[in-house]
Amino acid sequence: MKNKDFYQLLKKNRRETNGFQYTVPAPGAYPYQWLWDSCFHAIILTHYKINDAKNEIVSLLSKQFENGMIPHIIYWDKKLPGSFPRIIWGKNHTSTITQPPMLAYAVWQIFQKDKDSLFVKKVYSNLYHFYRYLLTERDPHTNHLIGIMNPDESGEDNSPRFDFALNLPPNHTLKENTKKRMHLVKQNIECHFDAPFCMRNFFWVKDVPFNVIMVENLRLLVQLATSLGYSEDAKFFDEQREKIIEAMKKFMYEDDLFWSTFGEDYQKIKIKTWAIFAPLFAKILNQKQAQNLVEKHLLNPKEFWTEFPVPTTSLDEPSFDPSGYWRGPTWIGTNWFIYKGLQNYGFNSIAEEIKRSSVNLLQKSGFREYFNPQTGEGLGAMQFSWCGLVADMD
Ligand code: GLC
Repeated sequence: MKNKDFYQLLKKNRRETNGFQYTVPAPGAYPYQWLWDSCFHAIILTHYKINDAKNEIVSLLSKQFENGMIPHIIYWDKKLPGSFPRIIWGKNHTSTITQPPMLAYAVWQIFQKDKDSLFVKKVYSNLYHFYRYLLTERDPHTNHLIGIMNPDESGEDNSPRFDFALNLPPNHTLKENTKKRMHLVKQNIECHFDAPFCMRNFFWVKDVPFNVIMVENLRLLVQLATSLGYSEDAKFFDEQREKIIEAMKKFMYEDDLFWSTFGEDYQKIKIKTWAIFAPLFAKILNQKQAQNLVEKHLLNPKEFWTEFPVPTTSLDEPSFDPSGYWRGPTWIGTNWFIYKGLQNYGFNSIAEEIKRSSVNLLQKSGFREYFNPQTGEGLGAMQFSWCGLVADMD
């Protein structure tokens, strides 16, 4: 596998509509533009063609809502033959929910490559309004944890972390899961996607990776604001970042792990998924906690250290299913988060093993959407763009 293979993959998946350029996650299965996928694509593209990375972001921002929200899907071309069912999330051209806020990270990485502060200036106000939206509309109780109103907002649609909130048993079919999630969409449409109302009444979940991603992205938003001389903004976002970290420690941490929570009383959802490693990405743990986490859980063959790590759900969970979408398979995106997290703590040789294993998977099974963590079998969509994240494991 050569480095240029990843660029070829993204090039094949590149599209242009009405002058907007973007990369589709996979031509057949996902023929539109997705929010966190595009942030990943921009990160990958910084290694090849910086202008493509910038254009990817500009396209995403072009459909930002009045209230600052950025939708998780933009249906640039509605007539495509792809197999993805175009769900009507209350609007015609975009969805009406969001996805993990990786935007500031992507823009920061672009800025690191060419120091083009004009580009940062051009996109800054969009970023400002997006993160402000999340801090206000998604934290109606001002307890400083950001909420999601549908599992799909986590980017991990059918993860077992959401079974409890959806009132599903550990073992159920994808069809049953989708039915529940689509019912939520219906409720969201009925309440006009008023986020505080929708969350409080139908899906009151504070998810660990979403909040971790928020923390890390606020850190970089602070740097972006500082680079433009916006010191008031920098101060504000830095304070908010600290508050989320404090709230995570207060409401999510127990038995040495961070858990997603449900309901107004922050009931911990104690299902071991890759999310227990997510806090490494934003350096929320101290060195000792990180070491325990890695030794006890990541390197444990009964939990996450499989033939092709890292499975998205622990082997000892009753919900573990090696081919069940987000219920067990290894995804390159989650491996990327873990890889970066391990580097934060100097666990470089374990990070290298994750990279090696990710490359092995791609060599063995191609650019697939996800992989069986025990056999390495490729599953889901073909020609899946975020496999290119391996190019950013450096
Ligand atoms: C699926 C994934 C989500 C991704 C989308 C497009 O819905 O769960 O994370 O953004 O496909 O690739």
